[in-house]
Amino acid sequence: MHGQHDGPQRDEIPGAISTQAEEFSRRLTAAGQSRLAAAAQAAVDGLHALIAELRPSGEEFRLAIDFLTEVGHYADARRQEWVLFADVLGVSSLIEDQNSPRPAGATPNTLAGPFYRSDVPEMPLGANISRDHKGEPLDVEGRIVGLDGAGIGGALVEVWQANAEGLYENQEPDRQPEFNLRGRFHADPQGRFRFVTVKPKGYALPSDGPVGQLMSALGLGLERPAHIHFRVSADGFETLTTHIFDRSDPAIGRDAIFGVKPELMAEFRALPPGGGKRKHALDLNLVLCPQRQGESGTSGRR
Ligand SMILES: [Fe+2]
Repeated sequence: MHGQHDGPQRDEIPGAISTQAEEFSRRLTAAGQSRLAAAAQAAVDGLHALIAELRPSGEEFRLAIDFLTEVGHYADARRQEWVLFADVLGVSSLIEDQNSPRPAGATPNTLAGPFYRSDVPEMPLGANISRDHKGEPLDVEGRIVGLDGAGIGGALVEVWQANAEGLYENQEPDRQPEFNLRGRFHADPQGRFRFVTVKPKGYALPSDGPVGQLMSALGLGLERPAHIHFRVSADGFETLTTHIFDRSDPAIGRDAIFGVKPELMAEFRALPPGGGKRKHALDLNLVLCPQRQGESGTSGRR
Protein backbone atom coordinates (compact mmCIF):
# COMPACT_ATOMS: atom_id res chain seq x y z
CA MET A 1 0.00 0.00 0.00
CA HIS A 2 1.04 3.56 -0.57
CA GLY A 3 0.92 6.38 1.87
CA GLN A 4 2.29 4.83 5.09
CA HIS A 5 4.54 7.32 6.94
CA ASP A 6 5.66 4.85 9.55
CA GLY A 7 5.79 1.74 7.37
CA PRO A 8 8.84 -0.07 6.11
CA GLN A 9 11.54 1.73 4.13
CA ARG A 10 10.88 2.31 0.45
CA ASP A 11 13.19 -0.47 -0.71
CA GLU A 12 11.23 -2.94 1.34
CA ILE A 13 7.79 -2.00 0.05
CA PRO A 14 6.76 -4.42 -2.65
CA GLY A 15 5.94 -2.49 -5.77
CA ALA A 16 7.20 0.86 -4.46
CA ILE A 17 8.63 2.74 -7.40
CA SER A 18 10.18 5.99 -6.17
CA THR A 19 10.04 8.31 -3.18
CA GLN A 20 8.35 10.84 -5.46
CA ALA A 21 5.63 8.37 -6.49
CA GLU A 22 5.07 7.49 -2.86
CA GLU A 23 4.80 11.13 -1.86
CA PHE A 24 2.41 11.78 -4.77
CA SER A 25 0.27 8.92 -3.47
CA ARG A 26 0.32 10.34 0.07
CA ARG A 27 -0.83 13.74 -1.17
CA LEU A 28 -3.57 12.20 -3.34
CA THR A 29 -4.86 10.11 -0.46
CA ALA A 30 -5.00 13.19 1.75
CA ALA A 31 -6.87 15.10 -0.97
CA GLY A 32 -9.62 12.48 -1.23
CA GLN A 33 -10.57 9.48 -3.36
CA SER A 34 -12.06 9.69 -6.81
CA ARG A 35 -11.80 7.86 -10.13
CA LEU A 36 -9.65 10.73 -11.37
CA ALA A 37 -7.34 10.31 -8.38
CA ALA A 38 -7.10 6.57 -9.00
CA ALA A 39 -6.26 7.23 -12.66
CA ALA A 40 -3.63 9.81 -11.70
CA GLN A 41 -2.11 7.36 -9.22
CA ALA A 42 -1.95 4.55 -11.79
CA ALA A 43 -0.48 6.90 -14.40
CA VAL A 44 2.18 8.21 -12.01
CA ASP A 45 3.07 4.68 -10.88
CA GLY A 46 3.40 3.55 -14.49
CA LEU A 47 5.45 6.58 -15.46
CA HIS A 48 7.81 6.23 -12.51
CA ALA A 49 8.27 2.52 -13.24
CA LEU A 50 9.15 3.42 -16.82
CA ILE A 51 11.68 6.03 -15.69
CA ALA A 52 13.19 3.63 -13.16
CA GLU A 53 13.65 1.10 -15.94
CA LEU A 54 14.91 3.42 -18.69
CA ARG A 55 16.86 5.99 -16.62
CA PRO A 56 16.54 8.67 -19.33
CA SER A 57 19.13 11.42 -19.59
CA GLY A 58 18.05 15.07 -19.36
CA GLU A 59 18.43 15.34 -23.13
CA GLU A 60 16.22 12.30 -23.74
CA PHE A 61 13.58 13.74 -21.41
CA ARG A 62 13.68 16.99 -23.38
CA LEU A 63 13.22 15.06 -26.66
CA ALA A 64 10.19 13.30 -25.19
CA ILE A 65 8.69 16.64 -24.16
CA ASP A 66 9.42 18.04 -27.63
CA PHE A 67 7.64 15.06 -29.22
CA LEU A 68 4.52 15.53 -27.07
CA THR A 69 4.55 19.27 -27.80
CA GLU A 70 4.67 18.55 -31.56
CA VAL A 71 1.77 16.10 -31.28
CA GLY A 72 -0.23 18.94 -29.72
CA HIS A 73 0.79 21.34 -32.46
CA TYR A 74 -0.45 18.92 -35.14
CA ALA A 75 -3.84 18.41 -33.51
CA ASP A 76 -6.71 20.66 -34.57
CA ALA A 77 -10.35 20.41 -35.57
CA ARG A 78 -9.47 18.61 -38.84
CA ARG A 79 -6.65 16.42 -37.69
CA GLN A 80 -6.33 14.64 -34.36
CA GLU A 81 -2.70 13.66 -33.94
CA TRP A 82 -3.36 12.51 -30.35
CA VAL A 83 -5.99 10.05 -31.58
CA LEU A 84 -3.55 8.86 -34.23
CA PHE A 85 -0.94 8.35 -31.50
CA ALA A 86 -3.41 6.32 -29.41
CA ASP A 87 -4.40 4.33 -32.53
CA VAL A 88 -0.88 3.26 -33.52
CA LEU A 89 -0.06 2.25 -29.94
CA GLY A 90 -3.06 -0.10 -29.94
CA VAL A 91 -4.68 1.93 -27.16
CA SER A 92 -7.83 2.93 -29.08
CA SER A 93 -8.43 -0.65 -30.19
CA LEU A 94 -7.93 -2.03 -26.67
CA ILE A 95 -10.37 0.48 -25.19
CA GLU A 96 -12.92 -0.42 -27.87
CA ASP A 97 -12.48 -4.13 -27.07
CA GLN A 98 -12.96 -3.48 -23.36
CA ASN A 99 -16.06 -1.37 -23.87
CA SER A 100 -17.74 -3.45 -26.57
CA PRO A 101 -17.23 -7.09 -25.64
CA ARG A 102 -19.01 -9.58 -27.89
CA PRO A 103 -19.92 -13.16 -27.03
CA ALA A 104 -18.46 -16.07 -29.02
CA GLY A 105 -20.13 -16.31 -32.40
CA ALA A 106 -20.98 -12.60 -32.65
CA THR A 107 -19.11 -10.43 -35.15
CA PRO A 108 -16.44 -8.46 -33.26
CA ASN A 109 -16.89 -4.72 -32.85
CA THR A 110 -14.09 -2.41 -33.95
CA LEU A 111 -13.36 1.31 -34.10
CA ALA A 112 -15.45 3.29 -36.57
CA GLY A 113 -12.51 5.47 -37.60
CA PRO A 114 -12.71 9.12 -38.65
CA PHE A 115 -14.57 8.79 -41.98
CA TYR A 116 -18.09 7.74 -40.94
CA ARG A 117 -20.97 10.00 -42.00
CA SER A 118 -24.47 9.67 -40.58
CA ASP A 119 -26.22 11.76 -43.25
CA VAL A 120 -26.08 9.31 -46.17
CA PRO A 121 -29.38 8.95 -48.08
CA GLU A 122 -31.23 5.64 -47.92
CA MET A 123 -30.80 3.40 -50.99
CA PRO A 124 -32.75 0.41 -52.33
CA LEU A 125 -31.18 -3.03 -51.89
CA GLY A 126 -28.92 -3.83 -54.82
CA ALA A 127 -27.97 -0.19 -55.46
CA ASN A 128 -24.51 0.76 -56.68
CA ILE A 129 -22.73 2.92 -54.08
CA SER A 130 -19.93 3.79 -56.50
CA ARG A 131 -21.14 7.10 -57.86
CA ASP A 132 -18.16 7.57 -60.18
CA HIS A 133 -17.83 3.89 -61.30
CA LYS A 134 -14.04 4.02 -60.95
CA GLY A 135 -12.45 0.72 -59.97
CA GLU A 136 -13.06 -3.02 -60.21
CA PRO A 137 -16.74 -3.83 -59.55
CA LEU A 138 -17.52 -5.75 -56.37
CA ASP A 139 -20.89 -7.38 -55.58
CA VAL A 140 -21.53 -7.58 -51.84
CA GLU A 141 -24.21 -9.88 -50.47
CA GLY A 142 -24.83 -10.64 -46.86
CA ARG A 143 -27.18 -11.45 -44.08
CA ILE A 144 -27.74 -9.85 -40.70
CA VAL A 145 -28.41 -12.58 -38.18
CA GLY A 146 -28.64 -13.09 -34.43
CA LEU A 147 -26.56 -15.53 -32.40
CA ASP A 148 -29.17 -18.21 -33.21
CA GLY A 149 -28.62 -17.70 -36.94
CA ALA A 150 -32.09 -16.26 -37.50
CA GLY A 151 -32.24 -13.33 -39.92
CA ILE A 152 -32.93 -9.89 -38.46
CA GLY A 153 -35.46 -8.36 -40.85
CA GLY A 154 -35.29 -4.62 -41.44
CA ALA A 155 -31.88 -4.13 -39.80
CA LEU A 156 -30.24 -0.85 -40.79
CA VAL A 157 -26.97 -1.46 -42.66
CA GLU A 158 -24.60 1.47 -43.19
CA VAL A 159 -21.44 1.00 -45.24
CA TRP A 160 -18.51 3.20 -46.15
CA GLN A 161 -15.18 2.56 -47.76
CA ALA A 162 -12.18 4.06 -49.52
CA ASN A 163 -12.03 4.06 -53.33
CA ALA A 164 -9.67 2.11 -55.57
CA GLU A 165 -6.93 4.61 -54.68
CA GLY A 166 -7.40 4.25 -50.92
CA LEU A 167 -9.18 7.58 -50.41
CA TYR A 168 -12.54 8.36 -48.80
CA GLU A 169 -15.00 10.72 -50.43
CA ASN A 170 -14.67 13.31 -47.66
CA GLN A 171 -10.85 13.32 -48.00
CA GLU A 172 -11.09 14.68 -51.54
CA PRO A 173 -14.45 16.42 -51.93
CA ASP A 174 -13.31 18.05 -55.18
CA ARG A 175 -12.46 14.74 -56.89
CA GLN A 176 -15.16 12.34 -55.68
CA PRO A 177 -18.94 12.83 -55.82
CA GLU A 178 -20.75 13.53 -52.57
CA PHE A 179 -21.54 10.24 -50.73
CA ASN A 180 -19.34 8.23 -53.10
CA LEU A 181 -18.85 4.71 -51.74
CA ARG A 182 -21.29 5.20 -48.89
CA GLY A 183 -24.58 3.42 -48.52
CA ARG A 184 -27.50 3.10 -46.16
CA PHE A 185 -29.87 0.17 -46.59
CA HIS A 186 -32.56 -1.69 -44.75
CA ALA A 187 -32.22 -5.48 -44.83
CA ASP A 188 -35.15 -7.46 -46.26
CA PRO A 189 -37.51 -9.43 -43.94
CA GLN A 190 -35.00 -12.34 -43.85
CA GLY A 191 -32.12 -10.01 -42.88
CA ARG A 192 -30.53 -10.13 -46.33
CA PHE A 193 -28.83 -7.16 -47.96
CA ARG A 194 -26.85 -6.58 -51.12
CA PHE A 195 -25.18 -3.73 -52.91
CA VAL A 196 -22.69 -3.09 -55.68
CA THR A 197 -19.46 -1.20 -55.12
CA VAL A 198 -15.82 -1.24 -56.23
CA LYS A 199 -12.90 -3.05 -54.61
CA PRO A 200 -11.43 -0.77 -51.94
CA LYS A 201 -7.70 -0.24 -51.72
CA GLY A 202 -5.80 -0.15 -48.46
CA TYR A 203 -4.28 3.11 -47.32
CA ALA A 204 -1.68 4.56 -45.01
CA LEU A 205 -2.28 6.78 -41.99
CA PRO A 206 -0.75 10.29 -42.14
CA SER A 207 3.04 10.09 -42.07
CA ASP A 208 3.93 13.79 -42.17
CA GLY A 209 3.46 14.53 -38.45
CA PRO A 210 5.34 13.56 -35.29
CA VAL A 211 3.51 10.23 -34.95
CA GLY A 212 4.46 9.28 -38.51
CA GLN A 213 8.06 10.27 -37.80
CA LEU A 214 8.11 8.19 -34.63
CA MET A 215 6.75 5.14 -36.46
CA SER A 216 9.33 5.61 -39.20
CA ALA A 217 12.15 5.88 -36.62
CA LEU A 218 10.87 2.62 -35.08
CA GLY A 219 10.77 0.89 -38.46
CA LEU A 220 7.01 0.38 -38.17
CA GLY A 221 4.46 0.94 -40.93
CA LEU A 222 1.27 2.99 -41.06
CA GLU A 223 -0.60 0.75 -43.48
CA ARG A 224 -4.20 -0.32 -43.17
CA PRO A 225 -5.21 -3.35 -45.27
CA ALA A 226 -8.16 -2.86 -47.67
CA HIS A 227 -11.52 -2.99 -45.92
CA ILE A 228 -15.17 -2.00 -45.97
CA HIS A 229 -16.72 -0.43 -42.88
CA PHE A 230 -20.14 -1.58 -41.65
CA ARG A 231 -22.48 -0.30 -38.99
CA VAL A 232 -25.56 -2.40 -38.31
CA SER A 233 -28.36 -1.46 -35.96
CA ALA A 234 -31.60 -3.21 -35.09
CA ASP A 235 -34.05 -2.95 -32.19
CA GLY A 236 -33.11 -5.22 -29.30
CA PHE A 237 -29.53 -5.77 -30.51
CA GLU A 238 -26.19 -4.16 -29.77
CA THR A 239 -25.21 -1.84 -32.60
CA LEU A 240 -22.32 -3.42 -34.47
CA THR A 241 -19.57 -1.23 -35.86
CA THR A 242 -16.97 -3.22 -37.71
CA HIS A 243 -14.73 -3.62 -40.75
CA ILE A 244 -14.49 -6.50 -43.20
CA PHE A 245 -10.93 -6.87 -44.50
CA ASP A 246 -9.63 -8.28 -47.77
CA ARG A 247 -7.65 -11.28 -46.56
CA SER A 248 -5.43 -11.22 -49.66
CA ASP A 249 -4.11 -7.72 -48.88
CA PRO A 250 -0.34 -7.97 -48.23
CA ALA A 251 -0.76 -5.69 -45.18
CA ILE A 252 -3.38 -7.95 -43.54
CA GLY A 253 -0.96 -8.93 -40.74
CA ARG A 254 0.20 -5.43 -39.88
CA ASP A 255 -2.84 -3.17 -39.63
CA ALA A 256 -1.46 0.02 -38.04
CA ILE A 257 -4.45 0.41 -35.73
CA PHE A 258 -4.88 -3.28 -34.75
CA GLY A 259 -8.40 -3.65 -36.19
CA VAL A 260 -7.94 -7.00 -37.95
CA LYS A 261 -9.42 -10.07 -36.24
CA PRO A 262 -9.74 -13.53 -37.77
CA GLU A 263 -13.54 -13.29 -37.96
CA LEU A 264 -13.26 -10.02 -39.93
CA MET A 265 -11.09 -11.35 -42.77
CA ALA A 266 -13.01 -12.28 -45.90
CA GLU A 267 -12.32 -13.29 -49.46
CA PHE A 268 -13.04 -10.70 -52.10
CA ARG A 269 -13.50 -13.42 -54.73
CA ALA A 270 -12.47 -12.79 -58.32
CA LEU A 271 -15.29 -13.92 -60.58
CA PRO A 272 -14.62 -15.72 -63.89
CA PRO A 273 -13.58 -13.17 -66.49
CA GLY A 274 -16.38 -11.75 -68.59
CA GLY A 275 -16.35 -8.71 -70.80
CA GLY A 276 -15.06 -5.40 -69.43
CA LYS A 277 -13.68 -4.90 -65.92
CA ARG A 278 -12.81 -7.84 -63.69
CA LYS A 279 -15.59 -8.47 -61.17
CA HIS A 280 -15.31 -9.56 -57.57
CA ALA A 281 -17.81 -10.81 -55.04
CA LEU A 282 -17.96 -10.77 -51.25
CA ASP A 283 -20.41 -12.83 -49.20
CA LEU A 284 -20.74 -12.32 -45.51
CA ASN A 285 -22.84 -12.87 -42.42
CA LEU A 286 -22.82 -10.20 -39.76
CA VAL A 287 -23.87 -11.61 -36.39
CA LEU A 288 -25.44 -9.28 -33.83
CA CYS A 289 -25.80 -10.02 -30.14
CA PRO A 290 -28.79 -9.10 -27.99
CA GLN A 291 -28.70 -5.75 -26.29
CA ARG A 292 -27.38 -5.89 -22.74
CA GLN A 293 -29.68 -4.81 -19.94
CA GLY A 294 -29.49 -1.09 -19.30
CA GLU A 295 -27.41 -0.35 -22.39
CA SER A 296 -28.43 2.06 -25.11
CA GLY A 297 -27.33 -0.22 -27.94
CA THR A 298 -24.86 2.25 -29.33
CA SER A 299 -21.20 1.51 -29.43
CA GLY A 300 -18.34 2.28 -31.72
CA ARG A 301 -17.25 5.56 -30.26
CA ARG A 302 -15.30 6.66 -33.30
FE1 LIG B 1 -11.19 2.79 -43.17
